[in-house]
Amino acid sequence: MKKVIALMLAAVLCTAALTACGGDAANADAGSQTPGETGAASAAQETAGAQAETADTQSDATETPDGAASGDNVLIVGTNAEFPPFEYVGDDGEPDGFDIALIKEIGSRLGMEVQVENMEFNSLIASIGTKIDAVIAGMTVTEERAAAVDFSDTYYEAVQSVIVRADSDIASAADLENKTIGVQLDTTGNFIADEIPGATVQAYNKGVDAVNDLLNGRVDAVIIDTNPAQVFAQQYEGQIVALAGADFEFEAEYYAIALPKGSELVDQVNQALADIKADGTFDALVAQYIGETE
Ligand code: ARG
Repeated sequence: MKKVIALMLAAVLCTAALTACGGDAANADAGSQTPGETGAASAAQETAGAQAETADTQSDATETPDGAASGDNVLIVGTNAEFPPFEYVGDDGEPDGFDIALIKEIGSRLGMEVQVENMEFNSLIASIGTKIDAVIAGMTVTEERAAAVDFSDTYYEAVQSVIVRADSDIASAADLENKTIGVQLDTTGNFIADEIPGATVQAYNKGVDAVNDLLNGRVDAVIIDTNPAQVFAQQYEGQIVALAGADFEFEAEYYAIALPKGSELVDQVNQALADIKADGTFDALVAQYIGETE
């Protein structure tokens, strides 16, 4: 299990400028993709952007009137607003959360208006370049995803947690074997659960539905990123608890913004991210939306 996660993290782009991304593990074998190479790829593949535009006008003009990859002043960003505190549907019915605030800040630094599209998590990557120009969704950089999209520099270090009922005796990786485990479809929690010997994996479109089935007794545990795990555990305090990923030997993951392969926006987004980090805006957003983490 450890090996699989280490492999996934081999593609992580982790720069010194991003202090939230302090893990040595990811830096140690950051493999074939360096930020420098990504930049070169962007320059070499300018035509990819043009292709995306063409594809958009041909097939998606009706779905997104402003056009995906419009290249003008609108950046259409896909998310899955089922992942508090990074993204959730606010009281006004609009997506809100740390990621949404971050991408709007990036947009404003690039002089672009950000439009957020709320979609299923497992359709985000496939929609890049057609329905949407970018993804921000607490999305972990994995080797497989990096084969389909370009990732920005990473902006947040995370780890999976295990949510169990308060009276559960699950406490370690071995305890998860042969259990029924709930996950959000196509997330890294899903990939980890798939590797657990004898486990029956139930994948849901929304993490909260996995949590509901944990409350109902239909699953024995839920594997999901720590911050949302803590939000859900707080919501149902006394009934469920979020156990630390370290007890299960889960390794660090890194979130990044996904863009079309070869997008010239990668460098601009990275510059905006670096500026947002450097001037304290990033920490202010962490304090506002995420607060203290354990
Ligand atoms: N970090 C995990 C992944 O990339 C889960 C992300 C889920 N995000 C969401 N907005 N539902 O697979």
